[in-house]
Amino acid sequence: MRLPAPRGPLSRATFTALASPPPFTVDLALVRPAAAGDVLRSDDLQLTLWALYELHYRGFDEVADEHEWDPDVLRLRRELEHPFEAAVRRLAPSAVVTDQDFVGQLRLTIDTADGPPLAAFLHREADREQVLTFLRQRSLYHLKESDPHAFVVPRVDGRAKVALAELQYDEFGAGRPEALHSRLYADALAGAGLDPTYGRYVDETPAITLAVNNLMSLFGLHRRLRGAALGHLAAFETTSSLPCRKIAAGIERVGLPPVVAAYFEEHVEADAVHEQVALRDICGAFVETEPDLAGDVLLGASACLALDAAAAGDLLAVWADQEQEAAS
Ligand SMILES: [Fe+2]
Ligand SMILES: [Fe+2]
Repeated sequence: MRLPAPRGPLSRATFTALASPPPFTVDLALVRPAAAGDVLRSDDLQLTLWALYELHYRGFDEVADEHEWDPDVLRLRRELEHPFEAAVRRLAPSAVVTDQDFVGQLRLTIDTADGPPLAAFLHREADREQVLTFLRQRSLYHLKESDPHAFVVPRVDGRAKVALAELQYDEFGAGRPEALHSRLYADALAGAGLDPTYGRYVDETPAITLAVNNLMSLFGLHRRLRGAALGHLAAFETTSSLPCRKIAAGIERVGLPPVVAAYFEEHVEADAVHEQVALRDICGAFVETEPDLAGDVLLGASACLALDAAAAGDLLAVWADQEQEAAS
């Protein structure tokens, strides 16, 4: 993958430095203006952070592998993570852990979270172009589906580790490369006439959707946030099955071929099972061994849903604006 197009002074300076041989130098004074205002919707900050995280996944063609652990690269990443994590915590304040059974509280946290009706819109109203936009924007994550949560495996033990491995086994194809969920998504993109190349649509992905991706990397890459990573996973899996059914139906309605809907249909059944595994066997077991991190698990779940809701709301708002423009 090539580096994306910069979206401001910070990303421009960072990408130039990344594409140059070490040592890596970027003026940290560029961070403050990028972090001013709404951090979650700052194109310059979210894109820079996304690119720095990407060094831990597949990297970029023009960036030396040595940059991944360069202390100056990590220092810049830390400068961006501070305001990002603070913004996430403002959006999803950590819940107070009650005495009731933890899995019940986690489920309640997830069930009572509110989100805009993106799946319902895709089901009943979206036109083909809107469905394709949705598929492109989601591709940033689904082409590396479950990779961020894989970073957590060595950070947990016992029943939680076993259950996490069981869930990941499905996400990673259950022994069959052609069934990797990232591969199913690539097949869906190709079936829809889109480009299945990893990272292909980053340039058109809005900051808030980059933030959705960055959240998973933040939680996955910091051991101190392992509880939040597991809570995020539980929220993700628990809120997937029903929307996936609607999205699959919407994809069929606009006349895209069955291979496109197949990715979502696979998740109707799989995530109904994963929901139980993530809530009880992963998060429940984890909190039994690390009760001090129960609040972090709830934070991770709320943060997942709050950011997803913000991204979905922004996408619906863009479409509503376009419709109004077309009508006037
Ligand atoms: Fe999946
Ligand atoms: Fe899943």
